[in-house]
Amino acid sequence: MSETKRYTVTAALPYANGGIHLGHLAGAYLPPDIYVRYRRLKNEDVIFVCGSDEHGVPITLGARKEGISPQQFVDKYHELMKKSFSEFGISFDIYSRTSNKIHHETASQFFLDLYNAKKFAEETSQQFYDEEEKIFLADRYIKGTCPVCANENAYGDQCEKCGSSLSPKELKNPVSVLSGKIPVLKETKHWYFPLNEYENFFRDWILENHKHDWKTNVYGQCKSWIDAGLHPRAMTRDLEWGVKVPLPNAEGKVLYVWFDAPIGYISATKELKPNDWEKYWKDKDTTLLHFIGKDNIVFHCLLFPAFLHAHGEYILPANVPANEFLNLEGEKL
Ligand code: MF3
Ligand code: ZN
Repeated sequence: MSETKRYTVTAALPYANGGIHLGHLAGAYLPPDIYVRYRRLKNEDVIFVCGSDEHGVPITLGARKEGISPQQFVDKYHELMKKSFSEFGISFDIYSRTSNKIHHETASQFFLDLYNAKKFAEETSQQFYDEEEKIFLADRYIKGTCPVCANENAYGDQCEKCGSSLSPKELKNPVSVLSGKIPVLKETKHWYFPLNEYENFFRDWILENHKHDWKTNVYGQCKSWIDAGLHPRAMTRDLEWGVKVPLPNAEGKVLYVWFDAPIGYISATKELKPNDWEKYWKDKDTTLLHFIGKDNIVFHCLLFPAFLHAHGEYILPANVPANEFLNLEGEKL
């Protein structure tokens, strides 16, 4: 057992496409704020990092709708959110953003490290394309009937009714959320992370080692996903906005937003501690804690830890507290 010398505390990077509401605050920001204030009072070495998540399809569509560029769009919402957090008194040590240079470099290098270590599988496949809007449809932009529970409003990545994690081709009667048209299949090349090859790692690290110290909702979710069988997931997308895939012949492709966003925690730490950021991420005496909302469990408990593990130089989260809502005097806030 190692002894904790310092704490790296992260709060989920909110998407730069709206305001911060009470639900966000109560779920992912107030709990870590209380936690880090407690550590600071005890004079412990703790950093509290956060920032805006500025990539992904919803951002590009939001910008399109407002008739501005994605950069202008995230500039606007980043400032707004940063201001809200500061007015609410959330005591981040840094509130960064994923469109900045240090993040692009960090995420790009992380991807290359995994690529060079042969951690990805390159695959060409057929993906849904919206001919009217002329873009490949992100999983979220395809709706259809859930193959598990028959909910007619399931998304291509997840059914919010039964919680099943889905892929768009599993949906029955898929339609494009953007145009309402039936999407066509079109060929494209992407780099996949073989999550299925990490099953034993997850069984050991989560199901055995964290049986007693992770919250039951988090542990239970992880267990049901692992038991249901894990699949490779594409870590790149056909999109202009985001961290460019740092490989030859990858024009028009960017890193999947859920690949680059959690690396934003690392970039923010680099920005905060340019000279000694590494000890907050690579020293086994550091306790890493991710505070998130329940929608983010799969990314923080399975995907990001698997990336860190595959990379090999990084520590893994000691705990991932995921909140549903904050109770106030015994009632839902
Ligand atoms: N932007 C995501 C959301 O609002 C959370 C990203 S958390 C991070 O649900 F790990 F990716 F940073
Ligand atoms: Zn369902």
